[in-house]
Amino acid sequence: MSAIDDDTAFQSAALPADLEPRAIGREPTAKLSVERISSFNEEDLLALCEATDAAIIDGGGFGWITPPGRQVLESYFRGLLMVPEREVYVGRVDGIVCGSTQLVRPSRNNEAQAMAAVITQAFVAPYARRLGLARMLALRVEERARSLGYQVLNLDVRETHEGAIALYEGLGYQRWGTHPAYARVGGQIIAGHYFYKLLQRKS
Ligand SMILES: CC(C)(COP(=O)(O)OP(=O)(O)OC[C@H]1O[C@@H](n2cnc3c(N)ncnc32)[C@H](O)[C@@H]1OP(=O)(O)O)[C@@H](O)C(=O)NCCC(=O)NCCS
Repeated sequence: MSAIDDDTAFQSAALPADLEPRAIGREPTAKLSVERISSFNEEDLLALCEATDAAIIDGGGFGWITPPGRQVLESYFRGLLMVPEREVYVGRVDGIVCGSTQLVRPSRNNEAQAMAAVITQAFVAPYARRLGLARMLALRVEERARSLGYQVLNLDVRETHEGAIALYEGLGYQRWGTHPAYARVGGQIIAGHYFYKLLQRKS
């Protein structure tokens, strides 16, 4: 088992009955869960790397445009766990890691923005999409940020990631700006949107 924060585990009893088991051919009773990871076992790391590769190939792998190779990915994820300001969350479908996101707390010197955290690097493997996993991951990070006393959660997303935009707008994030030269993908400069959510306000 991976080491996890026991009190940070989220479980769903079952998928809502009206959710179609698209992708992966899952049963409507597929179990979704989210947890914070503080160390990886081999099985989870392998599944996370596979999910990441699949997301990158599909066109959205938190910054990577081409799969960097398994060794780089493994080092990346292991290294993440050593960054003091980062918390890594994984989402599982029937126990298998299929997605991830991160909470980034402000660094200690940033007193002026000590009330704001960032949710970043969210993705779900194409074979596990539209089951509610990204929403569960985002809600878990929000809950954690709220409980740590943060008042604001910030995020940014490429304009081409329409699913992510719909997800975060649906969760009450406000778009406050657009960067016209946010990223370069396939030789093309594309815009990106910036969002925030006030956490202490009930939505
Ligand atoms: C965006 C992404 C994380 C969504 O993951 P997911 O697990 O499929 O999302 P969920 O099932 O939790 O969807 C929750 C809601 O978000 C919205 N949504 C998610 N994907 C959508 C899509 N492709 N089109 C429209 N709405 C979408 C819907 O409102 C959905 O609710 P519904 O299924 O009840 O209609 C996933 O598609 C992904 O990894 N995309 C590529 C990478 C990316 O964009 N990352 C975000 C960077 S900030």
